[in-house]
Amino acid sequence: MSRERAIAVIDSGVGGLTVAREVMRQLPEERIVYLGDNARCPYGSKSPDEIRTYSFQMIDFVMKTPLKALVIACNTVTAVALEDVREYLPLPVIGVIEPGARAAVKATRSGHIGVIGTETTIRTRAYERALLRVRPDLTVSGLACPAFVPLVENHMADTEEARRVVRETLLPLAGEELDTLILGCTHYPLLAPVIQEVMGDRVTLISSAEETARELAELLGPQPAAVPSGTRVAAPEHLFVTSGDPDRFRSIAEEWLGCRVQAEQHSLLEKTYQP
Ligand code: DGL
Repeated sequence: MSRERAIAVIDSGVGGLTVAREVMRQLPEERIVYLGDNARCPYGSKSPDEIRTYSFQMIDFVMKTPLKALVIACNTVTAVALEDVREYLPLPVIGVIEPGARAAVKATRSGHIGVIGTETTIRTRAYERALLRVRPDLTVSGLACPAFVPLVENHMADTEEARRVVRETLLPLAGEELDTLILGCTHYPLLAPVIQEVMGDRVTLISSAEETARELAELLGPQPAAVPSGTRVAAPEHLFVTSGDPDRFRSIAEEWLGCRVQAEQHSLLEKTYQP
């Protein structure tokens, strides 16, 4: 029965909730264990070694729960450590970059795709490689937006300050002829209305969430048959854990997920993984 083991969704903070929401929508029977390392967010400006160490600390924490799959709902961790994690874990592991790239290739008409993400994600060129693997004739323009994650983590996505920062940061893309923009950081969908306003209607925004959840659903195989309408089915009890402030985590999570969230706080520092 699908409820026996959970699906872990991990991120440096609240960004992975954008993926968790889609997993809940597409796989409503599945129980999620969400872990956000908010205390050490942002990861995007840290060194690859630090990112790897922190990622494995998160993984060792969620592995205390019996799992059926792990979703790395963080582009930065996916860019730096996906292959290492796959080697380390005896579980299916899904990252967000390949799904995001596939969704963008489906959406573009002009063949010119923009990618915004953390400094590390952009520096690794992981999206560019993933996009060109699917369609080698694409033009790809990457831009790091290090100011975006703090806006989201500080619950300021819907403020005048956020609009100012987004407008200024995206200026280098203004002259580009792109028709599709990948939100290459899972925090960015929380800024999507502002990003769309700045980029204009002709640009399609792509978040990896939907395609990632679809990949997960395919991987898990056929789901239990729908129950007859009117039958009461208990919703799975998801677990939300943060290494940061549980109240701030809860208010962002409740707003984004549209349901009540109880967030537990845990320090992730006890683990001693050596990369
Ligand atoms: N949400 C993460 C991502 O998708 C990273 C944010 C950060 O910690 O810098 O890249």
